[in-house]
Amino acid sequence: MTPGRDRLPLVALGAGVALALLLAFTLRLPQRLLALARPGHAAHQLDGRIAPGEYQFQWVDPASKLTFDWSIVGDRLIGAISTPDTGWVAVGFGGDGPLMFGADIVIGYVDARGAHVEDDYANTPVSHVADTAMGGRDDILGSAGVTTAAGTTIEFERPLAAHDSTDQPIKAGQTHVIAASAETKDFVAYHAGGRKAVALLDLFAGPPAAAAGGALLPDHLTDVQIMVSVWMAMLLIVGLHGVVAGWAEGSEAAEGASAERTGVAVALIAVFMVVELASLAIFAVAVARAAPVWLLGSSLAVGLLALAGIVVLYSRAFVRWEAIRTERDDGIPW
Ligand code: HEM
Repeated sequence: MTPGRDRLPLVALGAGVALALLLAFTLRLPQRLLALARPGHAAHQLDGRIAPGEYQFQWVDPASKLTFDWSIVGDRLIGAISTPDTGWVAVGFGGDGPLMFGADIVIGYVDARGAHVEDDYANTPVSHVADTAMGGRDDILGSAGVTTAAGTTIEFERPLAAHDSTDQPIKAGQTHVIAASAETKDFVAYHAGGRKAVALLDLFAGPPAAAAGGALLPDHLTDVQIMVSVWMAMLLIVGLHGVVAGWAEGSEAAEGASAERTGVAVALIAVFMVVELASLAIFAVAVARAAPVWLLGSSLAVGLLALAGIVVLYSRAFVRWEAIRTERDDGIPW
């Protein structure tokens, strides 16, 4: 091979790796992988905005357009309640009713000074008061909110445990969850616009946040991303094939370079082992998190390819040389 031709596979490999990094960067893959592996830990930020993949679970009430996103993190519930309204918005947990009675409510609004969020209790079927007004305490551990013409989102953090008689504990199993909002920022104003919703939810089990939560990739790639992936795959295949073919040719040509060949083989096997372990780990996490089928399939395929690479390299680099050594020990001329 001429030096120019020798360099071609390396250039292709380099370009392929650069395109892979570009793709991973534009798809925010590291953050998405982290969120998938450690839901509820990596992504939460109390900033009044719901980032893709930030929450484990989501309840959307189509009639009222109220949305409740939440995660269970350790001994806390981190939640975000959103509405198309620009006044107060609230979510309440537990209570046997009737209507709102007994619900442990988080209610808030946003004005020019920021978010105002309160821990309330539905003391009658049709009213609520601040816990602090009933001898309890405000258990909201942190909160933030954003309001725009499109609506309001309040994010908050509260303990799972109940600390006084105006709190409801968050436990596994069915919980009566209520939500409502209004166009006014006055907490005692009725949800006159009719925006209210009720659901029985297992707050530890879902429903999972569909597209936002578990997905590693967005539903649709842009045309540019598809083009970059095709080029990346082509360059990587050409580059890898060229490098491996060049190495095999060189190892056959250069007699007596067995130690060097073994070193390269060991290094390549080590790389394949890392790929193998990483893909198996991704596969295991994907199974545990019920990730999309394409992720299960791809991680398994990469794992099997890496295993095939290990077997081929091992047999090529060690078994043949081992056979030659045995022949030599047997005194058979070779
Ligand atoms: C002081 C403020 C409030 C007043 C005066 C009020 C009043 C009422 C009244 C009169 C009803 C029965 C009529 C109807 O269904 O619309 C009701 C139901 C309801 N309220 Fe409120 N409410 C207030 C705050 C809240 C808050 C903060 C929430 C959410 C945490 C909420 C959630 C609901 C829900 C979900 C229902 C329907 C319950 C069901 O049908 O089982 N309300 N409210």
